[in-house]
Amino acid sequence: MENSCRIAVLVSGRGSNLMAIIDAAERGEIRSKIELVISDNKEAYALTRAKEHGIRTLFIDPKEFKTREDYDRQIVKHLKEHQIELVCLAGYMLLVTPYFVQEYKNRIMNIHPALLPAFPGLDVQRKAIEYGVKVTGCTVHFVDEGCDTGPIIIQRAVPVLEDDTPETLSARILKEEHNIYKEAIRLFEEGRLVVEGRRVRIKSGRNEDLSLKID
Ligand code: GAR
Repeated sequence: MENSCRIAVLVSGRGSNLMAIIDAAERGEIRSKIELVISDNKEAYALTRAKEHGIRTLFIDPKEFKTREDYDRQIVKHLKEHQIELVCLAGYMLLVTPYFVQEYKNRIMNIHPALLPAFPGLDVQRKAIEYGVKVTGCTVHFVDEGCDTGPIIIQRAVPVLEDDTPETLSARILKEEHNIYKEAIRLFEEGRLVVEGRRVRIKSGRNEDLSLKID
């Protein structure tokens, strides 16, 4: 992997994170290329966005498979056919099975709209407001066998305002999601992410002071 890799993005819905990655690639902010977008949802708007940018798309229907692992075996087959090196989950609403995790160990990333390990799971912007936290945010992490439990790559904090609704808070978090996802991909393609147990060490880049760069 010479500062660039072949990416697949797995989606289920609107695809704004996918769009942020496409934009980053088109602007040259990352050097990797999205080779494939896979969805478990035929209606996902993310598929339209990918097609508009000339990216190959695949809808794979979970209902056609007996087990979740069978489904993931089909996905992994396509990933291997396309020599995918990094898998980015971007609003992908299925949990990946241990089989998939093992096949792509430390090569599957996910974006989550909270500061893990706080608020794993779904509807977490609402849960953060209801809990009364003053700060939430977003996390890019490697995917392991658990739900939102894998080693954390980058996090960004977002304040919760007095009059926030789940919608206003989600919109502010989303902006930061778009920033940190491309940043995480850039670090990956540069070979700078080293997983050491639960921790992800970020090797410093040439001429770069990471204490200033990574927050
Ligand atoms: C994003 O906020 C993402 O963090 C979240 O779904 C949204 C997808 O938006 N993912 C999860 O909650 C995963 N558990 P998008 O389709 O516009 O990228």
